[in-house]
Parts: sequence; structure tokens; C-alpha cells
Amino acid sequence: MKKIRNSSTTTTTGGGGATTAMRVIVPLQGVVQGRGGLFLGSVIPCALFYFLQLYLKGRGGRKSGEPPAPPESSPSETHLREVSTLQRVHSRLLLSPRGTSGPAQVSSRANAIAKQADGTYCVGLKRAADDPYDEMNNPDGVIQLGLAENRLSLDMVQEWLADNTRESIISQDLSISGIAAYQSFDGLMELKVVVAEFMSQVIEKPQFFNPAQIVLTAGATPAIEILSFCLADPGNAFLVPSPYNPDLDRDVKWRAGVEIVPVPCRSADNFSLSTTALDRAFNQAKKRGLKVRGMIISNPSNPVGVLYNREMLYSLLDFATEKNIHIISNEVFAGSTHGSEEFVSMAEIIDTEDYDRGRVHIIYGLSKDISLPGYGIGVIYTFNENVLSAAKKLARFSPVSAPTQRLLVSMLSHTKFIQRFIKINRERVRRMYILFAGGLKLLGIECIKSNGGFYCWADMSSLIRSYSEKGELELWENLLNVAKVNATPGSSCHCVEPGWFRLCFSTLREKDIPVVIERIRKISETCISRS
Ligand SMILES: *[C@@H]1O[C@H](CO)[C@@H](O)[C@H](O)[C@H]1NC(C)=O
Repeated sequence: MKKIRNSSTTTTTGGGGATTAMRVIVPLQGVVQGRGGLFLGSVIPCALFYFLQLYLKGRGGRKSGEPPAPPESSPSETHLREVSTLQRVHSRLLLSPRGTSGPAQVSSRANAIAKQADGTYCVGLKRAADDPYDEMNNPDGVIQLGLAENRLSLDMVQEWLADNTRESIISQDLSISGIAAYQSFDGLMELKVVVAEFMSQVIEKPQFFNPAQIVLTAGATPAIEILSFCLADPGNAFLVPSPYNPDLDRDVKWRAGVEIVPVPCRSADNFSLSTTALDRAFNQAKKRGLKVRGMIISNPSNPVGVLYNREMLYSLLDFATEKNIHIISNEVFAGSTHGSEEFVSMAEIIDTEDYDRGRVHIIYGLSKDISLPGYGIGVIYTFNENVLSAAKKLARFSPVSAPTQRLLVSMLSHTKFIQRFIKINRERVRRMYILFAGGLKLLGIECIKSNGGFYCWADMSSLIRSYSEKGELELWENLLNVAKVNATPGSSCHCVEPGWFRLCFSTLREKDIPVVIERIRKISETCISRS
């Protein structure tokens, strides 16, 4: 190996003398390799080569000032360099003038994404980000009710970070190599252990989750994308109860190429899912020639905020077994439940009965439950060996940075802090939910009773002029441009009934609530006076 590489070096050195030198050295290397081993085999030829170089230089074998050739460039590199020089010369001299080949082309898939127009959801988010409401500095700015961020407990996180960041990332027993060196792409085992423990704590079952079944990714978004990639081929489909989180369309379609078949849920059932609706959607998809590979549920549901009870989870698993499809259960809000109902993870259901565990996959993350979206920690929890193996490899495209992982190992190990955080955060989310839903109720706007997550799923159909998507979008525009409130319209969540809006309350402070309610009241008055 070494011999071959060295001999090829000769082709790159400028002077012919070096070629001669190598012809001498290479056989020598072979001679000493018998007993002298690697050391002598390398040192002697190198020394000889060095002296020969000096000698040749003295004889003017190389022009003075010319830099030595790179010692290890391969023949193919050299070849490439020559070819590119040649082509450049050719193109200048022989080819037609510049610019006739047209602009640089990108792939058709990148084009499709680049050209895709932003929907109402993205437009609203951007407006609120560009002109954010601030009581003092921008009182006419847009109030953000579209982004699922929890700012209610940032004070606790901030306090912990202020006290512990330095210690967590650069502690005495953790050398720089534990931070700066390459780490495995699917996450540090130390972090998996504490994440599993945190997830278990959230469902109040110590040591329930197994760290060996975890793949860590840079946020829940790549976790969904990787699972989509692993469970379905391009053009296959997932059933998704609607209304659903508008982000999901991009997460499963853009790279994995998986279609979503919405399973419509209705206000008459409080938007709860029925297996009848699932069955109908499955059969319709089949008629359209789509191969359904799984279903994605969110529990607590996004946007509605309801929890799936045990009985329903069993029915879903029965359905998935009967149709031989997968279940992806997105449980990113599991620690942000705030009602009286019990949260049950799909992992608990699969643990109690004799189902094929290989069809159940859980999405989790620390963006919602510990308010750390900026840190980007997503979790794939799977019972399927093949999915686990593939997902670990695919995590190379979205690994969590090592300092972030170290920081979170430290934070999640801090049991007292975590226990206190979960408890206080739940109380705060609950309080805001009650205050906000109460404020809306004063305007005659009812919300579906929520038990988890950061949203009110609000019925604003009394405020729309025509009972249609058009009417809903008119109200959305009025809210955004006149009232300066960014709400997510139901149509962007694929809700089949017009007039529903997703309003996120966890970005607000308590004193913002009267301001929001007053802004919505003004709009509702103009709507009512018009009708
Ligand atoms: C919907 O929720 C409300 C409030 O919790 C409840 O009174 C009603 O019975 C529910 N309706 C259905 C069909 O479950």
C-alpha cells in the first residue's frame, strides 16, 4: 500500500531527479521490512529521500522558489488537476461566448420545494416574527399565537443554565475530547439513559423506557422524517387524523416522499378519532391506488389537545394489526398534560398485550416538555430492530451536537430540578389554559376541552361571514392584519369544518391575555355588526 502510494508521488514532483530517487528508495523499503518493521521501513527511505532532495536541489533539479509538491496526492487527483486546467483552456478558446448554457440547474425536487408557496400557517408565523408585539417597544406588533413554544417556564430553565452550563460542558472529569471529537451520530448512551428516565418520569413509571431502543436526532422533525423514510416508500401513504399539525405535511413529504391521507374528525365528536373513520380512509386510499403503510397520531393531540384513552389505543393497535400497518405515536406533549385525565403512552399498551411490537414507534423530544426547542433534541423510540438499525445510520444527517448532549445529560440527571420543573410547568400551562379559554368564552368563543399541549382549539365559526374556507381565511386575514393576532386557521390543519382556529397560549404572559382578548373582541364586533 505504502509502496504504491510513494511511487506514485514521483509523478507529481516537478524534477525528473525525484523520480530517479524514488526508484532507488522503493526497493530499499522492501528490503528493510523483513525484521526492521514499520519504523525502519519508513525512516530510512524518508531520510534517504530527504538527502537526495537536498542534493538534487543543489544541482538545480527543481527551480528555486517552486514549492515542493504535496507528498501524498494520488494519481487520480493529479489527473483531475490536469483535466480541469485543460478544460478551462478549451472553454475559453474554443467554445462559444459565456452564458449560453443558461443558469445553473438544481434538482427537480429542490425546485419543487423552493417554488412551493407558503401557506397561511407559514405566512402568519413570518408576519409575527417580523413584527413581534412588545408591550413597551412595539405595542402595535403582532401577537404570536401560531408558534408552539412554551415560554411559561423559561425562567426555571434559564436559572438552571446560569448555574450549571459551564460545569456541565467543561467539567473536570470531562476532557475536551469528550466534546470536540466526533461522537456517534445517534446520540451518547449517557444521554439516552437520562432521556429514557425522563420519559418514564413523565408517565410516572420508573425505568419504563429502555435506552437501547432510543435514537436521538436534532429535534422531533428529523425524527418524524427518519421514521417516514424507514416505514414507507415514496408514494406510500400514512393515515393521519385531521385536524393535524400543519408541519407534518412537510415532515413526511419533502424528503421521504410519503403522502398523507387525512382521517376527518368532527366537532360533533369533539374531534375524537373513530375506527370507522379510519377504516373508511384506509379503503378510500386503497381505491386511489395508495399503499397505506401506517398511521401517525399525536397524543396529546395537536391541535385539539385531547388524550387518547387506553380503550382507543387498543382499538388503534387492533386496527393496525388487522391491516398490517405501523403506528407512529407522536408524544412530544406527554409531559405538558394539564387536565384531570391520565396520559397513556402507546408504549404502555404494547407492553401489556401480545401484539407485534415491531409496528409501534414513538416520537418524543425536549422542545415542548422542557421548553428547549432551540437545543433540538428529538427521540425515536422503536421496538423494531430493523428500524432501530436504519434510524441509527440515518441519524448521521441530523445528529445532536456534543456540547448540547453534555448539557442535557447534566440537566436531566438533576432529579430534583426535573421533578420540580415538570410539576410547576404543568401548573403554569394549566393556569394559562384556563385563563385564556375563559377569556375566549367571554367573547362567546368555545374551545374543545383540552387536557394537554399548548393550544386552544377554538370554534370561531360564529365570526365568519360565509361558512366556507373562504370565510375562514377572511377572518384569518382580519385577525392578522387588523387585530394583529396570528392564529392558525383550521384549513391549514386540514380540518374539514370551517371556522376553527388553533390558538397557542404558552407564548403569552398572563398580562397579555386581556390584550389578545380585546383585539379579538374588536374583530368579533365588526363581524357581528356586518351580519
Ligand atoms: C364533548 O365535550 C363536552 C365538554 O367536555 C361534553 O360535554 C360532550 O358530552 C362531549 N361530546 C361528545 C360527543 O363526546
